[in-house]
Amino acid sequence: MATKISKRKGILLAGGTGSRLLPSSLGTCKQLMPVYDKPLIYYSLSVLLLAGLRDILLIATPDDLPRFQALLGDGSQFGAAFSYAAQEHPRGIPEALLIGADFIAGGPVALALGDNIFFGAGLSARLRDAANRTEGATTFAYQVSDPHRYGVVEFDDDWQAISIEEKPAQPKSNFAITGLYFYDHHAVEIARTLTPSARGELEITDLNRIYLERGQLFVKPLGRGSAWMDAGSEQSLLDAANYVAAIERRQGLRIGCLEEIVWRQGWIDDAQLRRSGEKMKASGYGRYLLDLVASRAPA
Ligand code: G1P
Repeated sequence: MATKISKRKGILLAGGTGSRLLPSSLGTCKQLMPVYDKPLIYYSLSVLLLAGLRDILLIATPDDLPRFQALLGDGSQFGAAFSYAAQEHPRGIPEALLIGADFIAGGPVALALGDNIFFGAGLSARLRDAANRTEGATTFAYQVSDPHRYGVVEFDDDWQAISIEEKPAQPKSNFAITGLYFYDHHAVEIARTLTPSARGELEITDLNRIYLERGQLFVKPLGRGSAWMDAGSEQSLLDAANYVAAIERRQGLRIGCLEEIVWRQGWIDDAQLRRSGEKMKASGYGRYLLDLVASRAPA
């Protein structure tokens, strides 16, 4: 049976200068760099598709937008609808909600950062739960050894979030807030009230704190069986590639394979999957798609 398509819109933010990856990011952008067998952006896009979101706006710098359009097109090959908008200057994550205000059209939205990678058992169900919640904001937390690099959430004994801080010098916990946010229809109006932080950007943590103060922020911890990576530096890009390679080679299954996800969700049929596979049959990724059609392997 086809997976229900959510009326919630999806926004994929692939902005930023990629300065930590120079000189590699001179000719392309971070989110288009490969993580083993596919571009980094595939991983965050796969999360939005798995959440059942079909209508997706990709936001990138004016220079990078044409490259994303060349890669992903109008989304029809995925049974989805992709549109594009420019972020002229990196003014912070919540600006994506302002740029996308017309697209969101007063409804609920999910916002994903294009350099985050999620993987793990039960992830799809958690994503769909978040997408189905009609009120408040849902985010995910992940235990890390270097929380000062992230938005950090503090929990009480019942795993209710009690504080969140952006890149605190003295983190109150080891739980980072990951770059995936599900918001109800208030997100744009709240984003409009934000003012830039000391680093000159609108902070997504400030927006999330407003939901927290309203008693409407739900932070779901991702357990130790899950992986969350942000591939923003040379080392984290390599770590992510090695991780993906290890799992994919061991299992013969691919992580973040967009065509497979939408095919299993019933958004494209066998013929469409075969066409994508044929186009890319010189690569292992393309042959994997052809093998899927041939075998109709169980999920
Ligand atoms: C941003 C957010 C931070 C979050 C992180 C996840 O950090 O501000 O709260 O934990 O993404 O990747 P930035 O990428 O701006 O350093």
